[in-house]
Amino acid sequence: MNRYKIPYFIIIPFILSVIWFIFYTFLKSYDHINYITHPITIYFFLINTILLIVLESINNLIFKIRLKSFSYKERKNILEKKEGNYFYSLYKFIFFDPKKINKEIKKIDHGFDVIIELDNKLPIWWIHLFYTTFIFSSIYFFSYLFMDFSNPYKEYDISYRKQLKEIEIFEKNVPQATIENSIFKKYLVNDGKLLFKENCATCHKSDGSGNIGPNLTDEYWINKVEKDLYKNIFYIIWNGSEKNPAMRPFGKSKEIKGNDIEKISSYVYFINRIDKKPLIHKSPQGEKILEWSKGI
Ligand code: HEC
Repeated sequence: MNRYKIPYFIIIPFILSVIWFIFYTFLKSYDHINYITHPITIYFFLINTILLIVLESINNLIFKIRLKSFSYKERKNILEKKEGNYFYSLYKFIFFDPKKINKEIKKIDHGFDVIIELDNKLPIWWIHLFYTTFIFSSIYFFSYLFMDFSNPYKEYDISYRKQLKEIEIFEKNVPQATIENSIFKKYLVNDGKLLFKENCATCHKSDGSGNIGPNLTDEYWINKVEKDLYKNIFYIIWNGSEKNPAMRPFGKSKEIKGNDIEKISSYVYFINRIDKKPLIHKSPQGEKILEWSKGI
């Protein structure tokens, strides 16, 4: 008469974790990373647990009913065999019965060299570990070939997109530069160059040499609102020009955020003060201003 020998408090978590593992390995869809905590998954596991408990109790019931059909002696025999300490029998199963072990050693005598080989059985844990490597490698082999799981390109792509999102969130929440706290930052010049190309090059040309708008690389300025050159640039990009609405208020109208205006201002300051001047440029407009206060 056979019966589940493994106690339910081991078999139920074991089955659940196998299901979970299969879920994790084969059904993992990277677009729904939170599916493990999804209510449907939780219900699925709950129902599974309940079903397993029900199965276990039915199994127990059947065992008890069948037990009644045996004679007292047989019953006692069966109970003694089945209800022994589970952990001790597990230990014996894995590491061999210490009483048995000596009897089972085989000796192979090769004869010619007087060396006797002991042909011990391999311990069960070792053999099982060996089979586990088979299972492990086949899971990885197939999932690597056919699924997203453990595919490095997919993983790279996902973490790349995740990082971009994090940067976006960071940029959104980070305090924006204002005319009061913004200063020229050389490391922002390259970013500013890109933004300038996108937003300003139609009117100022990408090197700032002027088109519809004035040349931004010379010492002539139509608008002088601030004493400091960098702040003056920031001010005009933020507020636009009062004299000519074509130069619109990019910051005030929220078309460009403060941090990006800081980048663009750094670029404009750079091409005006530090970079080489473009050979071809629009002729000067406004007044020549050489004296800018250094500011911060
Ligand atoms: C639609 C065309 C247009 C666009 C786009 C434009 N500007 Fe202008 N910009 C002008 C005009 C026209 C002026 C001259 C304003 C005036 O006469 O007061 C000007 C003036 C300026 C000035 C002041 C120059 C001075 O001599 O006073 C700065 C600095 C400037 N623009 C930077 C930018 C930046 C940076 C961008 C991109 C974010 C930009 N502009 C986008 C047309 C434009």
